[in-house]
Amino acid sequence: MWGGAGAIGALANATFGLNRASAAFADAALADRSRRIPYGACVNLAPLQKKPEYRAALTAYCQQLTPEYGLFWNYLRPSRDRFDFDFADQVLAFAEARQMTMRGHTLVWYAAMPDWTKEIDSPAEAESALKAHIETVVARYRGKIKTWHVVNEPIAEAKGSVADLRASIWLKYLGAKYIDTAFRLAHEVDPAAELLLNEYDIEYVEQGSAARRQALLALIHDLLARGTPLHGVGLQGHIRATHRIDRDGLYDFVSEIKSLGLSVHVTELDVIDRDLPAPIAVRDVLAAARAYDFLSPICAAMRPSVIASWGITDRYTWMPMWNKRSDGLANRPLPLDDQYRPKPLWSVIDYFCQQAA
Ligand code: XIL
Repeated sequence: MWGGAGAIGALANATFGLNRASAAFADAALADRSRRIPYGACVNLAPLQKKPEYRAALTAYCQQLTPEYGLFWNYLRPSRDRFDFDFADQVLAFAEARQMTMRGHTLVWYAAMPDWTKEIDSPAEAESALKAHIETVVARYRGKIKTWHVVNEPIAEAKGSVADLRASIWLKYLGAKYIDTAFRLAHEVDPAAELLLNEYDIEYVEQGSAARRQALLALIHDLLARGTPLHGVGLQGHIRATHRIDRDGLYDFVSEIKSLGLSVHVTELDVIDRDLPAPIAVRDVLAAARAYDFLSPICAAMRPSVIASWGITDRYTWMPMWNKRSDGLANRPLPLDDQYRPKPLWSVIDYFCQQAA
């Protein structure tokens, strides 16, 4: 049970309580405002094609774009032999015309797989399917997509204090080395591309996040020890507004990533407002405060390469898919409201984009 006053108290504590992260953040330079961190958003195809106000918002706010699902296997590969690049190509053209860059999301994921991949039933077939996919897709966007989320969500939900690798056809047939294979293939095709692991739920006190951080760090150490071309880590940031951020845990995690010479990217920020109070002014301010809790330890530990949200306006968001509100009100997870007006969440994102840690 999460009561109104309790919620505000908990947020206030989490946000303003003194800990390592806030101390380090106080030291971080606020001075050099010219080194803006790029802000990005994922792009939905229908409004990109049909809604001038959506295109105007992307143009006004973003420096980077990510096709929301245009590079998922189930969109891109309706059948084994067909690649449908129209969605990603349209986002790329829109981005390039505005001097923005496009990120690639994603090459390997356990989810969003087309039915024909169920026919894969041997290690040899899995390896050749993975190779054909990565070679075709990375080659098409060589020199254009400069950052790839190579493996998305490799860590399973934690069981107690342990988090294993996530089950997928890749793990089933190729074992843990599927991750190395994916990075090596991508690197061979585009040696200049920045290659990332991308993961969620690593930021909380609860949610098995400590175990997930540990598992992700162990994976990162293993990959680097084997000389795998891993260059950075994406933190998705689908922030659960009613869960406390483990600010010190997150700060230490990002500090370790930095000490390994890797970059950190905030790749899919939005705020899960399912269980927040209904009044918009209250909801928006609590959502923004939670995002502050998430971004401040990250930015205190190192300068993220991008802060990207998973959508730009509440009008187009994946949130109702899993997190519809029981009172029937629309979700408000994103920086702009459904009329494209900036919300407190935008102020928080913009504030951190101005920082140069
Ligand atoms: C979501 C998309 O937003 C939806 O349109 C799609 O139906 C399902 O996937 N983590 C990710 C994203 O890495 O790819 C997911 O995107 C959201 C969770």
